[in-house]
Amino acid sequence: MTTVRDVREKAGTEPITMLTAYDATTAAVVDEAGIDVVLVGDSMGNTALGYDTTLPVTVEDVASRTAAVGRATTDALVVADMPFLSVGVDEASSIEHCGRMLKEANADAVKLESGPHTVELTERLVELGIPVMAHLGLTPQRMKETGYGRQGTNRDEAHGILDLARQHEQAGAFSLVLEHVPANLAKQVTQALSIPTIGIGAGAECDGQVLVVDDVLGLSDRSPPFARQFGNVREEMTSAVEAYRDAVESGEFPADEHEHVQDELEDLY
Ligand code: KIV
Ligand code: NA
Repeated sequence: MTTVRDVREKAGTEPITMLTAYDATTAAVVDEAGIDVVLVGDSMGNTALGYDTTLPVTVEDVASRTAAVGRATTDALVVADMPFLSVGVDEASSIEHCGRMLKEANADAVKLESGPHTVELTERLVELGIPVMAHLGLTPQRMKETGYGRQGTNRDEAHGILDLARQHEQAGAFSLVLEHVPANLAKQVTQALSIPTIGIGAGAECDGQVLVVDDVLGLSDRSPPFARQFGNVREEMTSAVEAYRDAVESGEFPADEHEHVQDELEDLY
């Protein structure tokens, strides 16, 4: 069992590995492969749930997927990603939504897309016993405002990210995801913080890396430019499904070994 303390302590010794999962089968594979942190990302919106963005994802979606992932995970830390507007509207509902991930879905921690509005909330959640992973740089829940481009590309923006990173560390976040920012910014944020940074499209100088599992497996139709496809699972799935279709259509499946004939059931009419 990995704890948030283990993740913090791994930083600076060995890279932290993190990958998303949205169902028990995938989570079991990820966990058995020795990945440190399984993120039940709201990227489930773009992947498992078939939306165009993460915006429609609900607290119920994340809670039910987190519970499934948790049931299949024995070693990795399970982090529930708080969906759009589930935090930040008011403190009470933010705490309730985050609390549900630990109480009902058995998450080990929550991740919040961070900003000036999550500093106090992070402090409050940590005070209450809910470990928080922060997330700065590209925060896709703000895509209506920012699009999906790289963030922190001028000195003002970069300072803003560095300041917010420090404030979230101060507020008690146990780690920080940095998404789609220049590598030299991610490097300086990593040096400035004592908590681990986990990069996605943020270069090699972070304390860890995260990707969306569909991109890693080769399941996605389109992947962001910073992802790498490490397998061809979609091709494998397609060939298995086509082989099944062909076998049914040709009468080759089911074969004798798949059927059971009971003698007394002859001559029913
Ligand atoms: O939802 C997600 O998968 C994420 C990661 C890309 C960090 O937030
Ligand atoms: Na996310």
